[in-house]
Amino acid sequence: MIVLTRGFVIAIDGPAGAGKSTIAKKAAAALGFAYIDTGAMYRSVTWKLLQTGEPFSEGLAGRLAREIRISFRPEGARNRVFVDETEVTDAIRSMPVTKLVSRVAAVPAVREAMVDQQRRMGREGNVVLDGRDIGTVVFPDSPCKIYLTASVEERARRRGKELEAKGEAVDYKLLQADIAARDKQDMERDVSPLKQADDAVYLDTSDLSIDEVTGTILRLAGERRPQA
Ligand code: DC
Repeated sequence: MIVLTRGFVIAIDGPAGAGKSTIAKKAAAALGFAYIDTGAMYRSVTWKLLQTGEPFSEGLAGRLAREIRISFRPEGARNRVFVDETEVTDAIRSMPVTKLVSRVAAVPAVREAMVDQQRRMGREGNVVLDGRDIGTVVFPDSPCKIYLTASVEERARRRGKELEAKGEAVDYKLLQADIAARDKQDMERDVSPLKQADDAVYLDTSDLSIDEVTGTILRLAGERRPQA
């Protein structure tokens, strides 16, 4: 069994579709840590903006990000997400939110508000956070950083399988192009672009199972834990 001291932050970053949330959730459950899906936070701000019916503007996005109250309530394998008291777990995965979220996440005032909240949540105890800037910006002092990635082809294959399981028709070439475009947007934006922290462990999951990746992260967490 791995026993870790309080206040230990595990930072998992990487591009869309690399399996971060599945892996982070499993690792957190195995360690008894809280799990914070920071992508869900940017999605929640985007959802709230769409609810207003107003067109996107940096000012509106920033104001909503400062006002919003986001909470996570884990339930079995699900990580339920609430904005104020409204459940948004499924709504934040909708197409309109997915299409707009990159723009919202690029607004400096939005990032400032989200990073503040993430640091507050992180300070409360042992946590696993996943996102794009956790190891570089939010918790640069974390002793346990992982950069999780997989080839564009493999990420498109995984996403396609999920969509097919929901009965949707899948165009794999289009999916690959979408993923490559999202990578470019996340890596080339001015504020907190996606990049591997110098001291992060690089893990390509293309040929690894979920259990293999989770096992690697749990081993690393055991090695990197601060000495009590
Ligand atoms: O991981 P995801 O697809 O749910 O992320 C949604 C969007 O939020 C995506 O455009 C990247 C962005 N994001 C970010 O900029 N910083 C984070 N820490 C997490 C997500």
